[in-house]
Amino acid sequence: MMIQVPEYIRSLVPYLPGKPIEETQREFRLKRVIKLASNENPLGPSPKAKLAIKKAIQSLHRYPDGSGFHLKQALAFHLGVQSSQIILGNGSNEVIDILVRTYCLPGDAVITHRGAFQCYKICSQIHGVNTIELEVDQNFQWNVDELLFHAQTHEDVKIIFLANPNNPTGTYFSASVLNQLTEGLSRIRGGSIILALDYAYWEYVRAKDLPDPAKALSLYPNTIIFRTFSKIYGLAGLRVGYGVASQEVIFNMEKVRQPFNVSSVALVGAEASLRDTTFVKKSRLLNATGLKFWEKTLTRLGIPFWPSQGNFILADVAKAIGRSGPEVFHECLKKGVIFRPIANYGYPDALRISVGTNEENLIAAKALSGLMPGRKKR
Ligand SMILES: Cc1ncc(COP(=O)(O)O)c(C=O)c1O
Repeated sequence: MMIQVPEYIRSLVPYLPGKPIEETQREFRLKRVIKLASNENPLGPSPKAKLAIKKAIQSLHRYPDGSGFHLKQALAFHLGVQSSQIILGNGSNEVIDILVRTYCLPGDAVITHRGAFQCYKICSQIHGVNTIELEVDQNFQWNVDELLFHAQTHEDVKIIFLANPNNPTGTYFSASVLNQLTEGLSRIRGGSIILALDYAYWEYVRAKDLPDPAKALSLYPNTIIFRTFSKIYGLAGLRVGYGVASQEVIFNMEKVRQPFNVSSVALVGAEASLRDTTFVKKSRLLNATGLKFWEKTLTRLGIPFWPSQGNFILADVAKAIGRSGPEVFHECLKKGVIFRPIANYGYPDALRISVGTNEENLIAAKALSGLMPGRKKR
């Protein structure tokens, strides 16, 4: 008998992760592969997190603390909020998923924009929720009035998803845009639409006019902030992220969360890395140096790029190199360098480059410059 699949699952295009190092080594018989494809911390995990994780292994036969008490306490202190305003997730991806499951019915809608982080659309579609995608200009900026118009006219809009800065573009919206947005939202259906602001890359931000998460939270009561330990804290493999919002928003989400969604090892690893401020500073500095390196390199090669506030940079490779983003990606793979094509976001000309260590950046830049027209193939 044919199994029945809901149309929204049948038509779902799953998330496309960065190509793994081991797979590339096998495929191309390479000894060393450099992965600049998933916006990970090239320094690895914090040494303090590694120590804490080693210790926690002794208790792997026990279930984790389902409430995440200690990590939540540490986060509450770090952020100046109540523990009851925090929800922990198996990566912030899970928090996105829980938010949609908690507040949307199939047939409802969310708003985001073209070129936004893909999980908003995917997590929504999984639950039969439609996505309204705003158009963006050539600098990936969406229009506040257009957003408010959609929020006002589509009664079924329950959540607005915006990343600041955005992945894969690295672009951001300013405090004045956020003010305009929150003012407008508070006048629509009693301020009941949830504003989900994704700050996965906040620790890397250098722009002074990018509103900080605490400020963002204070402007509009139904705001939720997503944060993660996958980026500057170097724990992408451990899967820990969290959401911060009002007690009411979190209370409902906690009912939907699976009881042991964050592992015991992840809980202690995240707590230790939160306390390792030296490691965070070092990572931030390395990233700033790496971003400057890539800006200079891309400028030298005549490859346009979008200034980034994250730990990655989006390069418009097609015109300068004469090949599409996926083609450049494949050519670099053969040389042992993994970048990230973003054709699946609707941008076949672009390639996203995560910032690596200084050595990794140099090797990767060499692979890229080897593809410039007029260069001899090696
Ligand atoms: C904007 C943004 N949000 C959320 C995530 C998900 O992070 P995680 O689930 O690892 O916490 C990512 C990962 O790349 C991201 O770029």
